Amino acid sequence: MSKVGLFYGTDTGNTERVADMIKDKIGADLVEVHDIASASVADFGKYDKIILGQPTWYYGELQSSWDDFWEDFKTIDFTDKTVACFGLGDQADYSEYFLDAMGMMHDIAVENGAAPAGYWPTAGYEFDESKAVTDDNEFFVGLAIDEDQQPEKTAERIDVWVDQIKEEMGL
Ligand SMILES: Cc1cc2nc3c(=O)[nH]c(=O)nc-3n(C[C@H](O)[C@H](O)[C@H](O)COP(=O)(O)O)c2cc1C
Repeated sequence: MSKVGLFYGTDTGNTERVADMIKDKIGADLVEVHDIASASVADFGKYDKIILGQPTWYYGELQSSWDDFWEDFKTIDFTDKTVACFGLGDQADYSEYFLDAMGMMHDIAVENGAAPAGYWPTAGYEFDESKAVTDDNEFFVGLAIDEDQQPEKTAERIDVWVDQIKEEMGL
């Protein structure tokens, strides 16, 4: 079976920890994890199943190493690739910008041909605005993790989401 490529960026370590939990839940032998700070466009070419993880920083901004990679990211052809996103944010302190970076990341992958997977219900979160929701506000465009306000929910959210994407991605 082909491997899954998981690409993440982090400023303070939370997204890296969640990436490792996702890898362990899928099966460590099935997932290759890349810190986007040291990844290249060519690395994306190795996988047809891709997971992208990013926290949002500074009122709706990209995480710093994703920001550095952004122009390269926009050149990646995601045709014939399935992409599932996850994002970290804080729904209370940044309620008008909750998970914005995940939304921006998802939108580029889809514009560039990706088949999206891993949409996640917005029920159970309280926030004002997000660029990471579907038009009907029913779903986030990927797994929503809030280590600041709801850390106790993270492990179970990952368990449920991984079961979902395993099915959607045929893992
Ligand atoms: C200064 C600061 C700005 C932040 N801005 C946002 C934001 O605009 N939207 C959001 O959803 N979360 C925001 N957060 C919350 C972070 O995304 C969250 O703490 C995340 O878990 C950090 O992930 P990392 O440790 O992988 O960098 C912010 C946090 C800090 C400290």
